[in-house]
Amino acid sequence: MSEKDTRKFHTRVIHTAQKPEDWHGATLPPIFQTASHRHPTAENLSDTFSGKTTDHIYMRLTNPTNRILEEKLAALESGRAAVVMSSGMAAITNACMAILRTGDEFVSGNSLFMSTYILFANIFKKYGITAKLVESTDLDALERAITEKTRFVYLETIGNPKMDVPDLAKAAEVAHKHGLPLLVDNTLATTFLCRPLELGADVVIHSTTKYLSGHGDATGGVVIDGGTFDWNSDLFPDFKPFIDRKGPLAYIDKVWREHHINFGTTQAPLHSYLTMVGLDTLALRMERHLENTSKVAKFLQNRNEIKWMNYPGLEDNPSHGTAKKQFADKGYGGLIAFGLKDQETCFKFINNLKMIYHLANLGDCKSLVIHPYSSQYVSFPVKTRQELSIFPDLIRLSVGIEAAEDICADLEQALNAL
Ligand SMILES: Cc1ncc(COP(=O)(O)O)c(C=O)c1O
Repeated sequence: MSEKDTRKFHTRVIHTAQKPEDWHGATLPPIFQTASHRHPTAENLSDTFSGKTTDHIYMRLTNPTNRILEEKLAALESGRAAVVMSSGMAAITNACMAILRTGDEFVSGNSLFMSTYILFANIFKKYGITAKLVESTDLDALERAITEKTRFVYLETIGNPKMDVPDLAKAAEVAHKHGLPLLVDNTLATTFLCRPLELGADVVIHSTTKYLSGHGDATGGVVIDGGTFDWNSDLFPDFKPFIDRKGPLAYIDKVWREHHINFGTTQAPLHSYLTMVGLDTLALRMERHLENTSKVAKFLQNRNEIKWMNYPGLEDNPSHGTAKKQFADKGYGGLIAFGLKDQETCFKFINNLKMIYHLANLGDCKSLVIHPYSSQYVSFPVKTRQELSIFPDLIRLSVGIEAAEDICADLEQALNAL
């Protein structure tokens, strides 16, 4: 990137990577709905394939609409470069696979999104890769789990549904002490609330399906490279050609060239477009999500039906101190996990709701609720569900941007009718 953009986040989120002068004055990015691109000469296509130009060839490789979103998200996260992909899971898979080889290990917080858990605990295992899962906020356990086979440390900014918040700056120190990069899934905090690269992390991943697009209309993922980690180490022998090619951007080049392209995790340009339309209101939406979540948590706290609550905004929550510092007092995320009497009560509560949608997603502008134990995690062994803090009495609420009074009123009538 050239000069540092000193404008405030609310401005940058709208104006970064905007080039209406190249778009016939259009204020929204064009959707380049084309599988491949015509090349004027044989020399030009050859130059493009050999990386001498950054022209586009074929949608599975790059796409001009996707590239605008990549530029925008890299800048917003204070990264150097990014690759957008078809989903958050595509991004997580490629981000990890670009580093791992058979026989390797990595250390991860155990507070993981469901599919990430399956990828780490079951799928990687089939290929001889071991994920060592430790309590996400226990840095000593994290360090103890590191061996000479470890290749990276992986954390989620806010765990789900535990809502635990690891100290990313300290985790980065531990990882770096052992010559390892820190990869962070920043989906739940978003780049509005937290920028892990500024805290010392090396790679940031998002499911853009959630808050970044914000309207439940597009799936997507992104891997963002801080460009600061030194991959020139015996731990990463197959990075050599990528370092030779791209220097500090070796990692993102490997993610893109070796995995994204060949695994075919292509992002549809329409989804990038929708994500960019969503991003225009990210700052405003996040402010409202954060404010509403705090109000809803206060409301729930006063209800007898609520047996327990996980929300880092509560002063007695074990992650409160870290969250307050790390999120610079802006808020504590948009999710609340709480317990009712039992599964039957949870079902009744969900069925009583009139406005809040019951569905498998989060980070939408609409308020959403789910009973994870009987839905996303229904096929997990009970022991694993317990390890992941998925209990039969747990409800997860993703607080939307409606009026807080109306969200509370819907919760109130659903609780009253239990
Ligand atoms: C924290 C987190 N990471 C990754 C994902 C996966 O994202 P996607 O559904 O876009 O693949 C999710 C999905 O809910 C998530 O919550």
